[in-house]
Amino acid sequence: MEKREHWKSKFGFILAATGGAIGLGNIWRFPYITGKNGGAAFVLIYIGCCIIVGIPLILAELSLGRRSQRDAVGTFKVVKPGTRWFWIGGMGVATGYLILSYYSVVAGWTIGYFFESLLGTFRKMGSPQAVASYFDTFSASPLKAIGFHGFFIALCMIIVIRGIQGGIERACKLLMPTLLGILLICIIRSITLEGSLAGLSFFIKPDFSKLSTQAIFEALGQSFFTLSLGMGAVITYGSYLTKKDNLASSGVMITFLDTLIAILAGFAIFPAIFAFGLPPDQGPGLVFRSLTNVFNAMPGGVVFAPLFFFLLIIAAVTSGISLLEVITAYFVDERGWSRRKTVLTMGTAAFLLGIPAALSFGRLQGISILGKTPFSFVESLTANYMLPLGGLMISVFVAYIWGRRKAIDEVKVGNPAFITGRIWVFLLRYICPFIVAQILLFGVLSEFTSPRVTSFANTLRSYLSIIDIVIAAGVIIGGAIYIISIKRAKRKEE
Ligand code: PFF
Repeated sequence: MEKREHWKSKFGFILAATGGAIGLGNIWRFPYITGKNGGAAFVLIYIGCCIIVGIPLILAELSLGRRSQRDAVGTFKVVKPGTRWFWIGGMGVATGYLILSYYSVVAGWTIGYFFESLLGTFRKMGSPQAVASYFDTFSASPLKAIGFHGFFIALCMIIVIRGIQGGIERACKLLMPTLLGILLICIIRSITLEGSLAGLSFFIKPDFSKLSTQAIFEALGQSFFTLSLGMGAVITYGSYLTKKDNLASSGVMITFLDTLIAILAGFAIFPAIFAFGLPPDQGPGLVFRSLTNVFNAMPGGVVFAPLFFFLLIIAAVTSGISLLEVITAYFVDERGWSRRKTVLTMGTAAFLLGIPAALSFGRLQGISILGKTPFSFVESLTANYMLPLGGLMISVFVAYIWGRRKAIDEVKVGNPAFITGRIWVFLLRYICPFIVAQILLFGVLSEFTSPRVTSFANTLRSYLSIIDIVIAAGVIIGGAIYIISIKRAKRKEE
């Protein structure tokens, strides 16, 4: 077996891990889901999910990975040998495949749009309608959709073949700061446009009357998707950490940076969309249909259009490689394959699996799986169901099966001053599984349209929402008391 590599520096790990987290989920998916679900109120629920469920779960995955020094499946075999818990990791690898297969389709669109904007395609079009509907023509073309999808997977394969330090870490160190720089330039341009205020208010002024059960369900799915949780991606990156690293601060940092970039993307996109009077609820085509028009109409658009799509490509590449790495680590660690053989075979497999998603906007548009196109079906299945389910099982595994003592001890390695261990395990034990299971249940119920199911769901919701309020208040008050008492005790010791 090849010797296990580690990250070269803490900074390199943070950039690679945030690079994996920050991706199309932040700049393409977050704006379109927020636009569809009414804006600011949705954003608040999403941030709540990232803090209450996201941080504890990221830390759970990081500690599992570092403890085992193995891939998503092997981790469970090391931590609980002789049991079947490794199936959680197996589901994670399968989820990784499915996500990569359609993720690279969207990434392919961004590559295509980057070239089109460099060539000035959108500038030459007469009307805003023509620019917007170009997305339909573009995504319906089998040659373009499949070609760019393949191009993107090949790009990820080239990086992942080079391994951890020379491939992933090096690429992210260069790409992540570039991403932040370009995003800041786009925000300044967007909020200084005339009429941008309506977009700002849509994004930051919550209107809770617009919040549906479906929106809460999607906010949870989005928090899992954007933080790459529930499928072992964080376990895998955590497995390249050493005992010197501080897991708790890394987990908080990754969540903070990922949420920050999503919010910044919102500031870059909504003011511009509203400034040009375009609707925010256009679904997956939002950034492609709207922003091309925005760039066409704004001064300096010739430069900003390719710059923005380049930004999307960077975000997609650093996440695409993390998806491919989950699959690669599994075959290298568990099956003893070489990195090279794994990347070549599995990259090709993901390419083939993605073809139906790539054709969903053209040849396969009429095909429906439970009322959705192949693309939307796989997107909703993975983000709204498979990731939360994986996360639910990981939290149960860490809190009940691995056990409180061992989990906290692992986090304390490299961070002896870790004082919030009890709160962490408490959240993993009682809060995360409860919240995730509840939202999953309502998600499943909302897929049914029969009046009986709906009225049952409504009754259940009224009971559960009382429990939720009590829990939220308890978590806030209990957490505050706990932290204050620990600080006092420490001061006394000194
Ligand atoms: N977090 C990535 C994004 O926001 O684009 C998507 C993703 C990457 C999901 C890796 C899951 C994963 F394992």
